[in-house]
Amino acid sequence: MKAVLCQEFGAIDNLVLDEIPSPSIGAGQVKIRVRACGVNFPDILLVQGSYQLKPPLPFSPGLEIAGDISEIGEGVDGLQIGQRVVSTLMWGGFAEEVVAPGVMPMPIAAGLSYEEAAAIPLAYGTAHVALTHRAELKPGETLLVLGAAGGVGLAAVQLGALLGARVIAAASTTDKLELARKYGADDLINYSSESLRDRMKALTDGRGADVIFDPVGGDLFDQALRRIAWEGRYLVIGFASGRIPSAPVNIALLKNASIVGLFWGAYWQHDSAVIRRSFEQLMAWSNTGEIKPRIHKTFPLEGAVSALRELQERRVMGKVVIAAP
Ligand SMILES: NC(=O)c1ccc[n+]([C@@H]2O[C@H](COP(=O)([O-])OP(=O)(O)OC[C@H]3O[C@@H](n4cnc5c(N)ncnc54)[C@H](OP(=O)(O)O)[C@@H]3O)[C@@H](O)[C@H]2O)c1
Repeated sequence: MKAVLCQEFGAIDNLVLDEIPSPSIGAGQVKIRVRACGVNFPDILLVQGSYQLKPPLPFSPGLEIAGDISEIGEGVDGLQIGQRVVSTLMWGGFAEEVVAPGVMPMPIAAGLSYEEAAAIPLAYGTAHVALTHRAELKPGETLLVLGAAGGVGLAAVQLGALLGARVIAAASTTDKLELARKYGADDLINYSSESLRDRMKALTDGRGADVIFDPVGGDLFDQALRRIAWEGRYLVIGFASGRIPSAPVNIALLKNASIVGLFWGAYWQHDSAVIRRSFEQLMAWSNTGEIKPRIHKTFPLEGAVSALRELQERRVMGKVVIAAP
C-alpha cells in the first residue's frame, strides 16, 4: 500500500510517499481501508518532533480517518466488514490502510461524505468537549474564539452558536471573519488591524467574555486573558502562533476566573466515554444538518506536503483533507 512516511523529525518537506506492506491486525484491532484523512496542525508538530507524542521512526502522520472496515480482529464487537466508519488514531492516517484499536471506529452519519466525516473528530470533538465538558458554556453567555476560521476555531464558532452563546470571532483577515460569520459568529474582530483588547472592551461594555477558546496562544493570549469576564473560563487549546504563553495568575484571582486546559485525545486513555458521548452528539447534529464541516481543500496522498503547507502558511479556512481524487 502507499503511505506518506516521516523518516526523520524535521521539516514537512522531508516527507516521502512510499510503498510499504499492508499492516497486519491482532486481537482487539480492526483494519480500515482509508477513504479520507483529516489534516491537523498537530500533524506538523508530529513531523517536527515537537508534539506531545513522539512516534518511532518511520511513521505516517494523520490523526483521523474515514473509510471502510476491511478486517476485524478477534474480540472486537459491534463492527462489520464494509461498514463506513470514522476513527481517530495515534498517528498513521496518511496511508491507504490503517489498523486501529477496535474501540475507536464509530459509524458515520448517513448524510456525511468520507471527506466531511474525516474533518469532524479532532476539530469538532475538541471544540465540543472544550465548550461543554470543560468550560460548561451556557446559553446567553459570550464566547470569544481566536483563530476563528481554522480547523478547531471554526468548529468552536459553529458549536458555540448552536449551544446558544453570543459568539465573537477573532481572526487575521476579512475573508476568514466573513466565513466565521456564515458559521454563526455575531461579532467580528480582525486582530491584524485592530486591538483585540480594545475591541473586546467595546463589544462587551467592559465585561469581557465568559468563555475564551484559544488555539493560537502567544501575544493574543496576553491580550485575551485581560478580557475574561467575572467567573470566566479561559480554554487553552493550542499554540499555533508558536509561543506557549505564561499567565499572570493575579487575573484569575481578581476575576474569579479559571484557566482550563484540554488535551482531547488524552480522553481515550483517561475517560473514553467523554469522547464517545460527544461523538454521538456530533453525529446526531450532522444527520440533522445542524453542523457541517467546511472543506477548504482536498489533496491526494501525493500532495501531503502541500496539504500541511496550507496550515503552516496560515491559509486554511475550515479543514484540509487528504482523499483520493
Ligand atoms: N488541545 C487539543 O486537544 C487540540 C486538538 C486539536 C488541535 N489542537 C491545537 O489547536 C491549534 C489549531 O489547530 P488546527 O488544526 O485547527 O490548525 P489551523 O486550522 O491551522 O488553525 C490555526 C489557526 O491559528 C492561527 N494562527 C496564528 N498564528 C499562526 C501561525 N504562526 N501559523 C499558523 N496558524 C496561526 C490562524 O488563524 P489566523 O490567521 O486567523 O490568526 C489559523 O487559522 C494547534 O495549536 C493545535 O495543536 C489542540
